[in-house]
Amino acid sequence: MRRPFIAGNWKMNKTISEGLVLVKELKEVAEKTDVEVAVCVPFIALKDIKEEIKDSKIKLGAQNMHWEESGAFTGEISPVMLKDIGVDYVIIGHSERRQYFNETDETVNKKIKSALKHEINPIVCVGETLEEREKGIEKDIVKNQVLKAFDGVEKDDVTKIVIAYEPIWAIGTGKTASSEDANEMCAFIRKTIEEKYGIDVSERVRIQYGGSVKPHNVTDIMNQADIDGALVGGASLKADAFTEIVNF
Ligand code: G3P
Repeated sequence: MRRPFIAGNWKMNKTISEGLVLVKELKEVAEKTDVEVAVCVPFIALKDIKEEIKDSKIKLGAQNMHWEESGAFTGEISPVMLKDIGVDYVIIGHSERRQYFNETDETVNKKIKSALKHEINPIVCVGETLEEREKGIEKDIVKNQVLKAFDGVEKDDVTKIVIAYEPIWAIGTGKTASSEDANEMCAFIRKTIEEKYGIDVSERVRIQYGGSVKPHNVTDIMNQADIDGALVGGASLKADAFTEIVNF
């Protein structure tokens, strides 16, 4: 009922020409699978990658955006600009942006509402730090992030949003949450959505897991009942690894 969704987050990797080589190699796997496949690429590569994938099933994502449509915001990219290129998704609130670039629950919320207004599907990232997990407050943290992210979001828009649960301690570290732990949190996120919007919505919203997803652990992760996909960092940079992940 929920279509599996595997997205690669290239982060600050790949020149335009390197990115083009990679997506050329991914077209076939996207063609042959029922899984939805997306690549979230650096801003400057968006236009060229879009051109390369336009006749394929690969969807295109950006990794951030500003919530304003235009104006004096030096160095920023607006939803209007992303829409103009034909971007399908935008990652919002990635932990690296929260950690290094002052992204807050408030800016995440503004960005989500702005993306929806411009018909770009947000992939909103939530997740706890290791310290928070060790204190046993990870569910409080994640619930708070989810509720703040969805503040003022209309019921009709909820299923346009993909939620990515990325425990910060599992990102780029080689440590994954056990698939059971990851599923428990994804189920908890779904429950949080149910409490706010009802079960008809919560059963349709897609929740990804992110954090050291690799070919060897993806099957186990994707077999979990409440995990509908993966947001993949490092392993999305190589065609063979990402292909194996998509073919979980
Ligand atoms: O957004 C994806 C991410 O943060 C996970 O990165 O390298 O651990 O797969 P990685």
